[in-house]
This record gives sequence, structure tokens and C-alpha cells, in this order.
Amino acid sequence: MSSPNGGGFWMPPQASTVAAEVDSLFDFILYLNYFFFALITVLAIYFAMKYRRRRADQEAAGQLDHSMKLEWTWTVIPSLFLFVLFVWGFRLFLDMSTPPADALEVRVIAKKWDWRFEYANGAKTYGELIVPEKQAVKLVMASEDVLHSFFVPDFRVKQDVVPGRYTTLWFEALAPGTHQVFCTEYCGTKHSGMLATVTVLPPDEFKKRYDSGFEDPNAPKDPVAAGQQLFTQRGCMACHSVDGTKGVGPTLKGIWDAEEKMADGSSVKVDDNYIRESLMDPNAKLVAGFGPVMPSFKGQLDDQQVNDLIAFIKSLK
Ligand code: CUA
Repeated sequence: MSSPNGGGFWMPPQASTVAAEVDSLFDFILYLNYFFFALITVLAIYFAMKYRRRRADQEAAGQLDHSMKLEWTWTVIPSLFLFVLFVWGFRLFLDMSTPPADALEVRVIAKKWDWRFEYANGAKTYGELIVPEKQAVKLVMASEDVLHSFFVPDFRVKQDVVPGRYTTLWFEALAPGTHQVFCTEYCGTKHSGMLATVTVLPPDEFKKRYDSGFEDPNAPKDPVAAGQQLFTQRGCMACHSVDGTKGVGPTLKGIWDAEEKMADGSSVKVDDNYIRESLMDPNAKLVAGFGPVMPSFKGQLDDQQVNDLIAFIKSLK
């Protein structure tokens, strides 16, 4: 059922060094279950028919003695299977939880509801983890708020990301390509939208982009377009719609220059300063009807980026 590059009918492609082994173990357990399910079902039906009560005057069998041979058989054989499963699973678990010493380290920061990646040279990417092929990558992961979980199905790796501590995960991608990342621990309203991708590049191309700090050569120069790109990349759209629908946070459509009613009853005119303050200290002036759930972007947006976001918000008439 499994091939070297594809996971087959049940599984996504096998894109990391451990994926094929994980699938083999999974298949082994699966087929073992199929086999014993079939064996037990068939025998149960067969015995129920063979030993059924045939006549009204037939008496039930008395107390039967046990069969030592039979009991040893059904104890030893399953124990051997369990032992195989334990050794196989434990060895694989050790492999998967021990990153090679030469692994490339990337810090992962999870927050409601996006992923940030920080590289050893200070470069940062948002919603996209960029790694070289055929090179072990170790992720050191932290959460800024609640429990999240980092899951790359194509790599067969998953690890919880827990506030207040670091957790690690490692993988080695087999070939260039793009792979989906899911958050797989329920973390609030937009949990299902907490997505990212892993982009695997050939080593020389990775080095080129790494050395340039992952600058996007196609990054828009126009402030409105740049703001829109930031708005998507930083996960703002998870909570703020641009078409007037109410989300976790207020819609941004037509918000510019409007008088907004605040939770404390006052009203505030939406201008440059209000947007800036709302990015850096989101709970300072809370719009009426919304909870204090927005994370601060202090230290995560420079002045240029705040200007671009303001330009984008202004354009949402
Ligand atoms: Cu983060 Cu679910």
C-alpha cells in the first residue's frame, strides 16, 4: 500500500525520512487488526452455529475443564505481537525525538492564530517555514498564549506547542516541495484557520534566500498592496473581515475616519493614532461588543509596516 514517494490510499505523500517507517508500522498494526478481527468474527459465528442448542431437551454442558495448551497459545502469540509492536514503536519514537547534532535550528512561535518562524541569522517568516532538502531541521517551539500543536502530515510529525515551556520537533525533508502545516490542538475560534506551509528548497537556493533574510523579491512596493500582504501573512484576516461581516474582531470595512463606540461607552475616531495604538496595545480602547482577545504586535511590526497597514485599512471603503 505504501510506495517510496506516495502514502497510498489512506496516507498523504511520504515527504520526510521517517514517513515510510511510520507508515510501515501503522500498516502492520492495521493489518494485524484486520486479521484478528476477521479470525475472531468468523470463529464466533462458526462456533455459535456448530454448538447451538439443537433440540428442546438438550442439556447445557456442565463445567468444562480448561485446556492448558490452548491458554498458552492465546497468551504467548499475542504477547509476541505486542513485544514486536513495542520494540518497533519505541525505536521509531526514539529516532523521532532525537534530532541529529548537525540539525538546522529554527524557532517557532505560535499564537492565536498564526505561526512565526525565526532563523539563526535573525530572519523571520510568517506562515511559511522555509527549509533546505536533505538536511535535518530542529524546531524549538513556544506559544505566546494557549496550547497549540504543530502538525505536518506529509512528514508524519506532530508536537504540542505549550505556553511557558519549549518543545522540540525535528524532520528531514526528502525533496523540494510545499507541505501543509495544521494546528492540531483546539485553540479557539479560528483554530481551523491556523495554517502554515513548509517550503522545501534545494540547498543552494535555500542558502541564497537564507542569506538575504528571506526577503521576498516580489514584495509589493505600493503601500496598499504591501499592507494587504501583511494583513494576510500576519493572520489579521482570521479575525477582521474586509467586507463588513462581523468576526472575532470588528470588520475593517469603512472603519477609517468613522466614530467607533467603545466598550466603556466613549467613542473614538479611527485615525492613524488609533490604529497604531490598537496594534501595539489592543486592549487600550476596546470596540463595544468585542472581547480583549487580540494579541499585541509590539516589536513585530516596524513603522513602515504600520504605515502600510494603515494605507490598506484606509483603502477599505
Ligand atoms: Cu492553534 Cu489550534
